[in-house]
Amino acid sequence: MSPAIPATRRSKALSSQLGLTERIFSSRDDRAMAATIEDGLALVEEGLLRELEFADNIADVTSRYLLSAGGKRVRPMLTLLTAQLGDGNVPAVLAAAQVVEITHLASLYHDDVMDEAEQRRGVPSAQAVWGNSVAILTGDLLFARASKLVASLGERAIILQADTFERLVLGQLNETAGPQEGDDPIEHYIEVLANKTGSLIAAAAQMGVVFSNAAEEYENAVMLFGERIGVAFQLVDDVIDLSPRADDTGKVAGTDLRAGVPTLPLLYLRRSALTDPQAAGLLARLEAGIASDESPEFESAIAELREHPVTATTLAEAQRWADDAVAALAPLPDGSVKKALTRFAEAMVERSR
Ligand code: FPP
Ligand code: MG
Repeated sequence: MSPAIPATRRSKALSSQLGLTERIFSSRDDRAMAATIEDGLALVEEGLLRELEFADNIADVTSRYLLSAGGKRVRPMLTLLTAQLGDGNVPAVLAAAQVVEITHLASLYHDDVMDEAEQRRGVPSAQAVWGNSVAILTGDLLFARASKLVASLGERAIILQADTFERLVLGQLNETAGPQEGDDPIEHYIEVLANKTGSLIAAAAQMGVVFSNAAEEYENAVMLFGERIGVAFQLVDDVIDLSPRADDTGKVAGTDLRAGVPTLPLLYLRRSALTDPQAAGLLARLEAGIASDESPEFESAIAELREHPVTATTLAEAQRWADDAVAALAPLPDGSVKKALTRFAEAMVERSR
């Protein structure tokens, strides 16, 4: 089966992803924590490779394909971070970190089939290489493996994982079906984001607290943090979508809009268009462009949307979600973990600049 598995391309060192190299993280405790997380992440990486082995040459290649293609490992990193509020990198925490990453990977195989995405993590998507059936089955295989691993953590973890799975699927389903009669399109969209992205990030943070035996009072705080940061992340993506990418994803400006995804700038524009003729004009050009795909007018309409106040409002909304995420951390003790989570939330919004 080709292509061969690419060498693992995990991006930047975790400490710099978290902004832990900055001056505000220069204390000995902060540096020690960053090193512990890096160590934990290396163990999680080894575990992931071990878990994605099926004694079947075909399955090994397809299931390790997206793992090896890169990824930021944001979810396992959060599990490890919140686990530092308790016993740290204990075996149950390492297993939980693998569960969340494998679940995330499984969802990406399925999502790329649904989105007909050509690329993922800078490589051709799995279904572009092997076709829809192999991509769907690989996602199923990964989900089966995540289920087996989570079973080793006991009933609480199984229920948590099942609830998260349900929310992931509901998010995708409601996104696909769109808002129903009487639904507010913007509220519907935010709920979709909370389900399809917030839920797994919340579970990642929660598992770190639960499986490190940290104080129970931290659980709800980190769950809220994860959920809100997930929504902030997606809203920042909506803004980034309007710019041509400098990274290796091969995405052009307006990729989501071209694919018919109603991102928040477009939803705000639709609302403005009810009372503002200029917004209505831009909306008409965008919708014509979406229907006919490529055209120079569409390019300029996307550039105009990028500069339109609705995009600044989207960014402000992302900032509000990130601020609310940080506010949820109030019950946590002051220290390296809280500092790192706060910095993480700030870095999330800064991606758009
Ligand atoms: C990416 O969204 C998609 C998700 C975050 C969730 C996908 C969930 C499922 C397919 C259901 C769960 C399935 C399993 C097997 C666990 P996006 O398309 O907005 O983001 P992208 O730009 O990364 O594609
Ligand atoms: Mg997608």
